[in-house]
Amino acid sequence: MGVLSFLFGSCQLLAEFMFNILHFLGIYLRPQPDRNALLTGKTVIVTGCTRGIGKALLEDLVRREAHVIMACRDIDLATSIAKQFHEKYIASKISVRRLDLASFASIKQFAKQVTQEEPMIHILVNNAGAMSSPERKETEDGNEWTIGVNYFGPVLLTLLLLPKIKEKILFVGSSSHGFVERIPFDDINSKKWVDGYMQSFITYAKSKASLLCLCYPLARKLYTNFGIKVYSVDPGVSDTDVTRDLPKLRSSNSNSLASRMATRTNGQSADSIMHIILSQSPYDQSVLHFRDGKPLETGSCTRDTRQQQDLWKMTRNVLDIDVMDKM
Ligand SMILES: NC(=O)c1ccc[n+]([C@@H]2O[C@H](COP(=O)([O-])OP(=O)(O)OC[C@H]3O[C@@H](n4cnc5c(N)ncnc54)[C@H](OP(=O)(O)O)[C@@H]3O)[C@@H](O)[C@H]2O)c1
Repeated sequence: MGVLSFLFGSCQLLAEFMFNILHFLGIYLRPQPDRNALLTGKTVIVTGCTRGIGKALLEDLVRREAHVIMACRDIDLATSIAKQFHEKYIASKISVRRLDLASFASIKQFAKQVTQEEPMIHILVNNAGAMSSPERKETEDGNEWTIGVNYFGPVLLTLLLLPKIKEKILFVGSSSHGFVERIPFDDINSKKWVDGYMQSFITYAKSKASLLCLCYPLARKLYTNFGIKVYSVDPGVSDTDVTRDLPKLRSSNSNSLASRMATRTNGQSADSIMHIILSQSPYDQSVLHFRDGKPLETGSCTRDTRQQQDLWKMTRNVLDIDVMDKM
């Protein structure tokens, strides 16, 4: 027994050691965005920057002297974060505006206010995202929660802000989109919901596949008509609150060696977004999805032009805004 537990303990120590080496190598071998590049004079909207990847991105943007508009649903939390960063970066310019992506009314109100206040927005980062609880719930507008917050909300926001956006629109995607073979047009709001963790994950993957699928026609139309560049960014796996409504899944996964090895810090995930914000590379509308500044293959359903057209039409019907007809 003593020998066995000694061996077991040694294996654990060895595994920890290997983990630290690999993690260390992972950090330093991954391409880094230029730490000295500044964004002085740029106005950047970041949705969902009160925690996780968005908060890490917010700090890096502020450090690089961008004017950041925090688009957040928890105004008290956002205001206290803005205050902390104001104290840390004396010349920082941060505005806090309320945005709840689970409410079309809130999105319209946000877009109206920002449009009135800002002469231009250089970059929009659609970062906010959610994974619903195992029980089905709906947004204020009657859409299933995850598809509402991760897909319909960011698309509506983007379209309403278009007249002010000058350079880039980023959508934060996820490799989970690759699990989706077909966009479920017949049940986009997951009415056939079966309570459980798997359903939450499937719905999340559907929302991210829909986002990436729509990015292709959106990128073509916006680049051709307005010179705006559309991107999807995969931040990699990061230990954040995105699974907060799935506590069992979170506690069972987060401490295993395998999950720790695959997990980035929030700052490393935010770097993946910063690569695209800083990128000066020539734009190719057919290569949209990136991690750490490098293009990634996307799931076949997202590249299917028929599904892209059907998704455009379906989204047009749900959002009911005529800007989509004019594009
Ligand atoms: N973590 C990962 O491993 C991973 C992997 C791939 C992709 N992503 C994507 O990365 C993005 C950031 O997620 P995260 O991992 O940093 O998660 P997180 O820690 O849960 O942060 C999500 C942010 O989105 C905000 N948000 C959620 N629902 C919202 C709503 N209805 N209206 C406005 N804001 C809302 C949250 O605000 P509150 O503070 O008010 O809750 C929070 O600031 C998401 O799009 C996620 O899908 C994450």
